[in-house]
Amino acid sequence: MNVDELKHRAALRAVEYVRDGMDVGLGTGSTAEHAVREIGRRVREEGLRVRCVSTSDAISKLAADVGINVVTLEECPQLDVTIDGADEIVLGTLDAIKGKGGALLYEKIVALATREEILIVDGSKVVERLGEHTPVPVEIVRWGWTSTRDALRGLGCEPVLRVGDDSTPFVTDSGHLIVDCRFPPMEDARPVAEAIKLITGVVEHGLFLGITRRAIVARPDGLQVVDRTSHNS
Ligand code: A5P
Repeated sequence: MNVDELKHRAALRAVEYVRDGMDVGLGTGSTAEHAVREIGRRVREEGLRVRCVSTSDAISKLAADVGINVVTLEECPQLDVTIDGADEIVLGTLDAIKGKGGALLYEKIVALATREEILIVDGSKVVERLGEHTPVPVEIVRWGWTSTRDALRGLGCEPVLRVGDDSTPFVTDSGHLIVDCRFPPMEDARPVAEAIKLITGVVEHGLFLGITRRAIVARPDGLQVVDRTSHNS
């Protein structure tokens, strides 16, 4: 079974939590796309009635293409459930790193407006400590970005400006840059998260701490559903 099939399985399981009449957040990335397609299928084939808030321009387009009613967060400020992917996750806490797809700012705003944030991953994303494989993406304003990068370096990481396929700086949907900050694996990511947020020029970071309620992990031998309340409510 390849990784994309695992992502698909996790997504199908997560969409079972979506019920008629709910307001739903749509995450960004290849795993979340499977969930968006499945929600769209249920809308078209089962008459599922949901209002959805998207976390990126790309997902807004996909959602509209598959028949989902996309609304703004202003229209729908309290969401029942959001289904999103992650780059790394610790199963004991459900703390995660997100943002490899560049949508971390909208993803976090939507997650914080959600009663039940569900992260769906294949087993390769599970780590003991955040930072084992993945840098922490930090979204920063463009103006004076080198100063912001240098201040991030002062926290003990190696910050690298993200560039696109054409080697020009990657620009987020909200017009900012992303600096990928490689920290040593973190026993406790909270002090790091707090220090990043104190830097002027930082908009948001990809450490999702204490936000996720449920994770669905797909491995070749089956699905694992982990609820945060059962570990550390
Ligand atoms: C988007 O900004 C990210 O947070 C993604 O949700 C994350 O990178 C996971 O992406 P994949 O599902 O494509 O691995």
